[in-house]
Amino acid sequence: MTKIEKIVLSYSGGLDTSIILKWLQETYGCEVVTFTADLGQGEELEPARAKAEMAGVKDIRIADLREEFVSDFVFPMLRANALYEGQYLLGSSIARPLIAKHLVGIAREVGADAVAHGATGKGNDQIRFELAVNALDPSIKVIAPWRQWNIRSRMQLLEYAEKHHIPVPSDKRGEAPFSIDANLLHTSTEGKSLENPAEVAPDHVYQRTVDPFDAPDAPEIITIGFERGDPVSVNGKAMTPAALLTEFNELGGRHSVGRLDLVENRFIGMKSRGIYETPGGTILLAAHRGIESITLDRAAAHLKDEIMPRYAELIYNGFWFAPEREMLQALIDHSQAFVSGEVTLRLYKGSASVISRASPCSLYSADLVTFEESAIAFDHHDAEGFIRLNGLRLRSWAARNGR
Ligand code: ARG
Repeated sequence: MTKIEKIVLSYSGGLDTSIILKWLQETYGCEVVTFTADLGQGEELEPARAKAEMAGVKDIRIADLREEFVSDFVFPMLRANALYEGQYLLGSSIARPLIAKHLVGIAREVGADAVAHGATGKGNDQIRFELAVNALDPSIKVIAPWRQWNIRSRMQLLEYAEKHHIPVPSDKRGEAPFSIDANLLHTSTEGKSLENPAEVAPDHVYQRTVDPFDAPDAPEIITIGFERGDPVSVNGKAMTPAALLTEFNELGGRHSVGRLDLVENRFIGMKSRGIYETPGGTILLAAHRGIESITLDRAAAHLKDEIMPRYAELIYNGFWFAPEREMLQALIDHSQAFVSGEVTLRLYKGSASVISRASPCSLYSADLVTFEESAIAFDHHDAEGFIRLNGLRLRSWAARNGR
């Protein structure tokens, strides 16, 4: 095994990463620095500090990354209307490059030669962490204990904890829990009964959205302000990016917006089934498309839609810090110069529907489209020629086919 001098571990304070911390200290016999980030997962961070202290960690890093997460990762992605396989809002995918960026930053600061993460060998997250580290600092090694140690089952994991006096909370003693990943953008739940895609997900997997049957009978109307493609206010009140997303999560959760039961194709090769809850993201996607509908030129909008699946796949596959993602981002960001204005939506029993939109930069012309008499010069004879020429090749083709 290669000699490692110092490791920065992505540490949640949960059972798995506590075991990983111990295993790293034992296996490499070197200093481990822990890094715990608040991405809006809704968990206290101080318990992680206490646990790291108990494990003898001298350098404990804790950071609130919520604003950076939303303004530098979630909002740029939303500008693209990114969806993986047509449906997934990429809530886990977009968080990994941010965590990797901070792991690398701390590693450089403290002179560590490796970073470590608790992602398993079958998932996408290991790829996302490691490709990001590769792209940010090729001199830093990555340690993935789940791929290296001999622990192969939940039982063995608990045994290791007992043996090393790592406290196992009572709810973690029985069968394996769901695998949950949460942040300000989403909650993702996988594993257990969800592994059978033919089985309906039990109600208790949902954590941040109410059941549509229990949602209020009265719809709620909200107005979102956009500037250059990014949301900046709700109901006329300006807020920071993280505060806005928090607010939309609250609103969406109450009205059951943003639930998704999906079978997706993992980059590593297998299909997996997961339950996603992305209340705020779902509202913002609808609203962003609403404001784009009046502010983007047709060809610009269609080009964005063409590259979107490619862009989403890059993020899903872990290529956030790759040159081609940055190139596409430049194109997307350029398109947003006039994507400003206000969109009003109705939240009602699981849906977030755009009901009106307005912009000082609107390309929409009621005068041009109206069925009534219009002041704008539009020669109806032009349409005749337009259709005649577009139909030219269709007439030749149909005649040849003998229709
Ligand atoms: N399958 C999703 C993705 O790759 C979520 C992964 C993390 N979620 C989890 N419950 N462990 O983006």
